[in-house]
Amino acid sequence: MAMNDETVNLFFIHFNQITQMHGLLTNDGQGLFDQKTPFYLYDLELLERTLQAAAMAADKRGYKIHYALKANNEPEVVRQVVRYGMGADCVSGNELDAALRHGFDAEGVVFAGVGKTDEEILMAIQNGVLLNCESLEELMVTAGLSERAGKQARIALRINPDVDPCTHKKITTGLDENKFGIHPSQLQESLDFCRDHDALHFVGLHFHIGSQILTPEPFIRLCEKVNRLWEVYRIDEYGGEMLNLGGGLGIDYYHPEQHPVPDFESYFDIFSQHLRVPEHVHIHFEPGRSLVAQCGTLITRVLYVKSGHTRKMVITDAGMTELLRPALYQAFHKIDNLVSGRPEAQYDVMGPACESSDVFAKDIQLPGTCRGDILAVRSCGAYAQSMSLQYNLREKARSYFYRPLLSANNGTFSDATEPFACEVVD
Ligand SMILES: Cc1ncc(COP(=O)(O)O)c(C=O)c1O
Repeated sequence: MAMNDETVNLFFIHFNQITQMHGLLTNDGQGLFDQKTPFYLYDLELLERTLQAAAMAADKRGYKIHYALKANNEPEVVRQVVRYGMGADCVSGNELDAALRHGFDAEGVVFAGVGKTDEEILMAIQNGVLLNCESLEELMVTAGLSERAGKQARIALRINPDVDPCTHKKITTGLDENKFGIHPSQLQESLDFCRDHDALHFVGLHFHIGSQILTPEPFIRLCEKVNRLWEVYRIDEYGGEMLNLGGGLGIDYYHPEQHPVPDFESYFDIFSQHLRVPEHVHIHFEPGRSLVAQCGTLITRVLYVKSGHTRKMVITDAGMTELLRPALYQAFHKIDNLVSGRPEAQYDVMGPACESSDVFAKDIQLPGTCRGDILAVRSCGAYAQSMSLQYNLREKARSYFYRPLLSANNGTFSDATEPFACEVVD
């Protein structure tokens, strides 16, 4: 596979088990794990398998996917997404700029965000990008800007449906108390405003209720809400032809090896079964996490194993600056010690930042862990790299990408014990 003009090295991976990544070696004998840590390591083969599964399940039903760039904006990841013909979902002018630079077709880019600046709105208008408008106030500003620019703005109204996604409260976005979207009580006024302003071209409705949703019920309730709103507010009569249901499909953070690819078939099936909007309406989705989370791993080295009064604390060279999710919303990430064969013990795993919340895990079982051991923090392909911070003047962690090339004597990837040749690009 062509890796553009970036350096390509051949690496070999020995999988003692698929869950362990022992002995990643460069072809000149250098270990990947001898490189400076922490770093993100991406499995491009898994990324492709995931994108393919999502694209196939969506295509079959005539659904359109816009990848939520906020999950991971690493150029190599984004380039893979572009290859699968997906659109992009952006929430800032810089994401919009990145999406266009990476080759997403402007027609397939959507732009949400509760606090778009005038410059960002103008950028979307100039490029013909669809604006997911989040308030009546934003709609009024957008109308003024498009009139002055002499170019019509394509508009979807993001509605807050007050549907509980039953996920962590900090990744809940579609409840009355959340800041996102237009309250249904203002939908009529918003529709009329669009109809009365030639500068606005209303195309449909947008929803996004939250993230890491693992049961069908919230999506079913969303469908029921959408069906009602579409009918009661006669969205067809206002020219509605597009319905965007956002993202939200969760992944298995506890068993990433057993469930590397989310069940996109069942996910899209929920909508096929429960949506009752007219047939001509185009259905769109904006998954982020489910497309990229499992292909990424954060590789970190153990700096110290401290003994507290009662606890053993593993201090790693990665922390909340490379993976904010545990500190931000007590998120769980599976952690493996890639090099230890020692008997298990109980540990807390913590980063080096000067914050008590810089904790990856508490009371977890790991093989006996020592200074210098390499740990893999799993499921870090989404909302890790893209949320990274330079707090404490930390350096930005690098990313490495590998692609297992199927070995000549064993055509399968998952259960092989032979070394695999891998292309690695960094
Ligand atoms: C508007 C919008 N769409 C899509 C997404 C992607 O969600 P997820 O990563 O859960 O699929 C988000 C995430 O916050 C969002 O705010």
